[in-house]
Amino acid sequence: MRIGILTSGGDAPGMNNAISAVVKTCVKNNIEVYGIYSGYKGMVEGKIKPLTLDDIEGIESRGGTILKSARLPEFKEVAVREKAVEQLKKFGIDAVVVVGGDGSYMGALRLTEMGINCIGLPGTIDNDIACTDFTIGFFTCQETILDAVEHIKDTAASHCRCVVVECMGNHCGDLTLFTSLGVGADALITREHPMELEELYAKLNAKRAKNPDAYSIVMISEKNPAAPLNELVEKIKENTVYGEDVRGTALGHIQRGGSPVSFDRMLATRMGVKAVELLAEGKGGRCVGMRKNVIVDYDITEALAMTRKVDPNIARLANILM
Ligand code: F6P
Repeated sequence: MRIGILTSGGDAPGMNNAISAVVKTCVKNNIEVYGIYSGYKGMVEGKIKPLTLDDIEGIESRGGTILKSARLPEFKEVAVREKAVEQLKKFGIDAVVVVGGDGSYMGALRLTEMGINCIGLPGTIDNDIACTDFTIGFFTCQETILDAVEHIKDTAASHCRCVVVECMGNHCGDLTLFTSLGVGADALITREHPMELEELYAKLNAKRAKNPDAYSIVMISEKNPAAPLNELVEKIKENTVYGEDVRGTALGHIQRGGSPVSFDRMLATRMGVKAVELLAEGKGGRCVGMRKNVIVDYDITEALAMTRKVDPNIARLANILM
């Protein structure tokens, strides 16, 4: 048996741990393992090389992905996938582990239908995959955001300002929700946790009415329903007593980097081993998740049909605390 592994979509801390676990499990079980570089793009182009224990030496502490990542929307096209299957056959690869967001899962399903068993692992900072409680990279990204916002709090407090901080997450507000609780933000606005701007202004003004030296932190997710960052900053300037003392910071790609924290390393390691075990049992078209600390797997079609809901136990905290 010969297994390929690729990383796809936005990179996430912990992807390297999944790669390491897959390679080590394969080596232990005399399964040959190949790295497919730059995601599905590299699959189509034949950027494929054997992976040895030497190739993965020390990667467990490194952010990003040693296999590189890319997005290839054209993988939806049958002709493009046929080219990919041709390449895999050329290299004698029977099965593939795909580490990426759910955008990568459809490709994994289609390849399985074309005779290449694939297993999807949820690698994304966004925590937007419905079939798992947490995605690989989500916890490291939270650490990065917390650290950045603590720095912002120092300057916001020194200048008695209101700072609006924008987090990544694509359409999912989990990064913003979890970290806004962690830093004690005054307000949060995400798709799942919308807020009327009048209510936001009232909250900020009330804080300043009690303490004229107060500062405020407002956390928003990208693609939030209220307003884009710069527009929101201008609106807060116009409608609150902060006036010109409002600033906005989009944390940007700093959020995707960094050495993975222990939770992401363990999650990725457990999932990487599981992926090889499933393939060795001849299973494909499945994706791995974690439910209540147990590693589970689902049919990809079933997983893609699931809708992601914000954890109500966490969401209620925001209503109590902000
Ligand atoms: O999916 C991960 C993610 O970082 C999202 O949070 C963000 O919307 C997107 O990728 C950014 O993508 P790019 O790096 O292509 O700008």
